[in-house]
Amino acid sequence: PGSLLSISDLSLEDVASILESADELEAEPAIRRAERLFKRRVSLLFYESSTRTRTSFELAAKALGADTSLVSAQSSSIEKGESLKDTGITLRALGAECIILRSPFSGSPYLLAQETGLPVLNAGDGMHEHPSQALLDLRTILQRLEKNGKVSDKLLDGVTVTICGDIFHSRVARSNALLLPRLGARVLLCGPTPLLPETAAGMSHNVSIERDFDKALEQSQVVMMLRIQKERLAGLSVDLEQYTSRYQANAERIAAHAPKAVIMHPGPMIRGLEITSEVADGPQSGIEQQVKNGVAIRMALVLRAVGEAAKTGKGKGR
Ligand code: CP
Repeated sequence: PGSLLSISDLSLEDVASILESADELEAEPAIRRAERLFKRRVSLLFYESSTRTRTSFELAAKALGADTSLVSAQSSSIEKGESLKDTGITLRALGAECIILRSPFSGSPYLLAQETGLPVLNAGDGMHEHPSQALLDLRTILQRLEKNGKVSDKLLDGVTVTICGDIFHSRVARSNALLLPRLGARVLLCGPTPLLPETAAGMSHNVSIERDFDKALEQSQVVMMLRIQKERLAGLSVDLEQYTSRYQANAERIAAHAPKAVIMHPGPMIRGLEITSEVADGPQSGIEQQVKNGVAIRMALVLRAVGEAAKTGKGKGR
């Protein structure tokens, strides 16, 4: 209970409740908010580098009054070969009531949750999922498109979201492609052959492939650009010059094909490759709003995880 391992764990009611909780927590006076999880213990376990997710989860837990501790691969006994299971059990023995895990290994949050019995929040696992990112992306889309209605399978009816770039390696693309169609959005996946599967088989009927970026842009109210993940490209041949000419979000292309679309990027972005500075910093960009929404969404997730842990007697509520 309280874990978030995959975005598919959440019903639409859960999504609505997390969005409402994020609104409520963001609006609450800081002094009252800090009483919510006063002195409760939240551990961040990061086996992979992160700027946005790590900082925003930490700020979120602290804003709720929790004590946080960070274990990162480079400065811990993980370097000496300690396993995920033993690291998790150690954190539990030190009083952790919830573990936030980023890992290069797909599925590792499931193992950690099973071995520790603690609520685990998946902060990105390999090429699998990044569910908190999908939730903060959803909040950003709803704000930018002024969709203020009740969360339902029709809230994003008529909205097309293009996700463009390295779809194959992207946990952000996967979590968004699982979540957005459930609210009625159509998702177009766009990118070159080695970075995007031949078909969208196995995905929602509302997910399809459009390899022509300009055509995808013309249909879209929202465009999510993805980073080329050079660290995961091993064995795949991608001509970056050709990639840039066909798939870069630059001012000329956006003005011609999507002059009103909201442009998003989960970060980190490589300016001059998948996106230019003019677009990233321009009026259509929702990128900073995404980062800010990370704190509100993650406050809701930490509260849900630690609060529920106390209710069910798991964790060590004090
Ligand atoms: N969006 C995202 O996961 O960024 P970080 O890798 O900086 O956390």
